[in-house]
Amino acid sequence: MATNRTFTMLKPDAIENGHMGKILDMIIQAGFQIKAMKYTRLTVDQAKKFYEVHAERPFYGELVEYMTSGPIVAAILEKDNAVADFRALIGSTDPAEAAEGTIRKAFAESKGRNAVHGSDSDENAAIEGEFHFGANEIF
Ligand code: RTP
Ligand code: MG
Repeated sequence: MATNRTFTMLKPDAIENGHMGKILDMIIQAGFQIKAMKYTRLTVDQAKKFYEVHAERPFYGELVEYMTSGPIVAAILEKDNAVADFRALIGSTDPAEAAEGTIRKAFAESKGRNAVHGSDSDENAAIEGEFHFGANEIF
Protein backbone atom coordinates (compact mmCIF):
# COMPACT_ATOMS: atom_id res chain seq x y z
CA MET A 1 0.00 0.00 0.00
CA ALA A 2 1.30 3.45 -0.88
CA THR A 3 2.11 5.60 2.13
CA ASN A 4 1.50 9.32 2.08
CA ARG A 5 5.02 10.68 2.61
CA THR A 6 8.01 11.39 0.42
CA PHE A 7 11.39 13.03 0.88
CA THR A 8 12.92 15.80 -1.22
CA MET A 9 16.08 17.84 -1.50
CA LEU A 10 16.36 21.14 -3.35
CA LYS A 11 19.82 20.55 -4.77
CA PRO A 12 22.78 23.00 -4.70
CA ASP A 13 22.15 24.34 -8.24
CA ALA A 14 18.56 25.26 -7.34
CA ILE A 15 19.72 27.21 -4.28
CA GLU A 16 22.66 28.81 -6.10
CA ASN A 17 20.38 29.93 -8.95
CA GLY A 18 17.88 31.55 -6.55
CA HIS A 19 15.02 29.10 -7.16
CA MET A 20 14.36 28.00 -3.56
CA GLY A 21 11.22 30.08 -3.07
CA LYS A 22 9.68 29.29 -6.46
CA ILE A 23 10.25 25.56 -6.09
CA LEU A 24 8.83 25.47 -2.56
CA ASP A 25 5.81 27.38 -3.83
CA MET A 26 5.25 24.85 -6.64
CA ILE A 27 5.46 22.02 -4.10
CA ILE A 28 2.95 23.66 -1.74
CA GLN A 29 0.61 24.70 -4.58
CA ALA A 30 0.62 21.06 -5.78
CA GLY A 31 -0.92 20.06 -2.44
CA PHE A 32 2.10 18.77 -0.51
CA GLN A 33 2.25 19.62 3.16
CA ILE A 34 5.71 20.23 4.67
CA LYS A 35 6.18 17.88 7.64
CA ALA A 36 9.88 18.65 8.22
CA MET A 37 12.36 21.00 6.58
CA LYS A 38 15.96 22.15 6.99
CA TYR A 39 18.57 24.26 5.21
CA THR A 40 21.82 22.36 5.42
CA ARG A 41 24.87 21.18 3.52
CA LEU A 42 25.69 17.52 2.96
CA THR A 43 29.11 16.26 4.00
CA VAL A 44 30.98 14.09 1.51
CA ASP A 45 30.23 11.03 3.67
CA GLN A 46 26.51 11.87 3.76
CA ALA A 47 26.32 12.39 -0.01
CA LYS A 48 28.22 9.15 -0.68
CA LYS A 49 25.87 7.24 1.59
CA PHE A 50 22.74 8.90 0.21
CA TYR A 51 23.64 7.95 -3.39
CA GLU A 52 25.36 4.66 -2.49
CA VAL A 53 23.14 2.78 -4.98
CA HIS A 54 24.97 4.67 -7.77
CA ALA A 55 28.49 3.93 -6.41
CA GLU A 56 29.47 1.91 -9.48
CA ARG A 57 28.10 4.41 -12.01
CA PRO A 58 30.52 6.65 -13.95
CA PHE A 59 28.83 9.83 -12.67
CA TYR A 60 29.09 8.94 -8.95
CA GLY A 61 32.17 11.10 -8.18
CA GLU A 62 30.70 14.08 -9.99
CA LEU A 63 27.35 13.53 -8.25
CA VAL A 64 28.94 13.54 -4.78
CA GLU A 65 30.98 16.64 -5.64
CA TYR A 66 27.86 18.44 -6.92
CA MET A 67 25.65 17.46 -3.98
CA THR A 68 28.26 18.77 -1.50
CA SER A 69 29.06 21.95 -3.46
CA GLY A 70 26.65 24.16 -1.50
CA PRO A 71 23.63 24.22 0.78
CA ILE A 72 20.46 22.26 0.09
CA VAL A 73 16.92 22.26 1.47
CA ALA A 74 15.84 18.83 2.76
CA ALA A 75 12.17 18.17 3.48
CA ILE A 76 9.61 15.50 4.28
CA LEU A 77 6.38 16.05 2.32
CA GLU A 78 2.91 14.64 2.88
CA LYS A 79 0.09 14.08 0.37
CA ASP A 80 -2.01 11.16 -0.83
CA ASN A 81 0.12 9.03 -3.18
CA ALA A 82 3.11 11.23 -2.26
CA VAL A 83 5.97 9.31 -3.89
CA ALA A 84 4.39 8.94 -7.33
CA ASP A 85 2.74 12.37 -7.34
CA PHE A 86 6.01 14.05 -6.37
CA ARG A 87 7.97 12.20 -9.07
CA ALA A 88 5.35 13.46 -11.54
CA LEU A 89 5.74 17.03 -10.23
CA ILE A 90 9.55 17.01 -10.55
CA GLY A 91 9.64 15.36 -14.01
CA SER A 92 12.26 13.21 -15.74
CA THR A 93 15.86 13.10 -14.50
CA ASP A 94 17.01 14.82 -17.70
CA PRO A 95 15.27 18.22 -18.10
CA ALA A 96 15.37 17.76 -21.88
CA GLU A 97 12.90 14.89 -21.36
CA ALA A 98 10.87 16.51 -18.56
CA ALA A 99 7.26 17.49 -19.26
CA GLU A 100 6.07 21.10 -19.36
CA GLY A 101 4.99 22.34 -15.95
CA THR A 102 7.44 20.13 -14.03
CA ILE A 103 10.04 21.50 -11.63
CA ARG A 104 12.96 20.05 -13.59
CA LYS A 105 11.63 21.43 -16.89
CA ALA A 106 11.52 24.88 -15.31
CA PHE A 107 14.67 24.85 -13.19
CA ALA A 108 17.12 22.00 -13.92
CA GLU A 109 20.36 22.93 -15.66
CA SER A 110 21.18 19.43 -16.96
CA LYS A 111 20.71 15.71 -16.26
CA GLY A 112 23.41 15.91 -13.59
CA ARG A 113 22.46 19.31 -12.09
CA ASN A 114 18.72 18.79 -11.99
CA ALA A 115 17.47 21.04 -9.17
CA VAL A 116 15.55 18.56 -7.05
CA HIS A 117 15.48 15.04 -5.63
CA GLY A 118 12.40 12.90 -5.05
CA SER A 119 12.30 9.48 -3.37
CA ASP A 120 11.64 6.60 -5.76
CA SER A 121 9.70 4.31 -3.37
CA ASP A 122 7.85 4.37 -0.06
CA GLU A 123 10.65 2.36 1.50
CA ASN A 124 13.32 4.82 0.36
CA ALA A 125 11.16 7.79 1.36
CA ALA A 126 11.13 6.48 4.95
CA ILE A 127 14.87 5.71 4.97
CA GLU A 128 15.79 9.08 3.45
CA GLY A 129 13.51 11.03 5.81
CA GLU A 130 15.04 9.31 8.84
CA PHE A 131 18.51 9.99 7.45
CA HIS A 132 17.89 13.75 7.79
CA PHE A 133 15.33 14.18 10.58
CA GLY A 134 14.75 13.04 14.13
CA ALA A 135 11.23 12.30 15.38
CA ASN A 136 11.14 15.67 17.21
CA GLU A 137 11.76 17.56 13.93
CA ILE A 138 8.72 16.15 12.11
CA PHE A 139 5.42 18.03 12.54
P1 RTP B 1 17.11 11.67 -7.72
O1 RTP B 1 17.44 10.33 -7.12
O2 RTP B 1 18.14 12.73 -7.38
O3 RTP B 1 15.72 12.12 -7.37
O4 RTP B 1 17.12 11.57 -9.32
P2 RTP B 1 16.46 10.44 -10.22
O5 RTP B 1 15.82 9.39 -9.37
O6 RTP B 1 15.60 11.13 -11.22
O7 RTP B 1 17.73 9.86 -10.96
P3 RTP B 1 18.75 8.74 -10.48
O8 RTP B 1 18.88 7.77 -11.59
O9 RTP B 1 18.40 8.23 -9.11
O10 RTP B 1 20.11 9.54 -10.40
C1 RTP B 1 20.47 10.26 -9.24
C2 RTP B 1 21.09 11.58 -9.63
O11 RTP B 1 22.36 11.36 -10.24
C3 RTP B 1 22.60 12.38 -11.20
N1 RTP B 1 22.78 11.75 -12.51
N2 RTP B 1 23.66 12.16 -13.38
N3 RTP B 1 25.25 12.51 -15.68
C4 RTP B 1 24.34 11.52 -15.65
O12 RTP B 1 24.18 10.75 -16.58
C5 RTP B 1 23.55 11.38 -14.45
N4 RTP B 1 22.61 10.46 -14.25
C6 RTP B 1 22.12 10.71 -13.02
C7 RTP B 1 21.38 13.30 -11.21
O13 RTP B 1 21.63 14.38 -10.31
C8 RTP B 1 20.31 12.37 -10.70
O14 RTP B 1 19.23 13.10 -10.19
MG1 MG C 1 16.81 8.46 -7.74
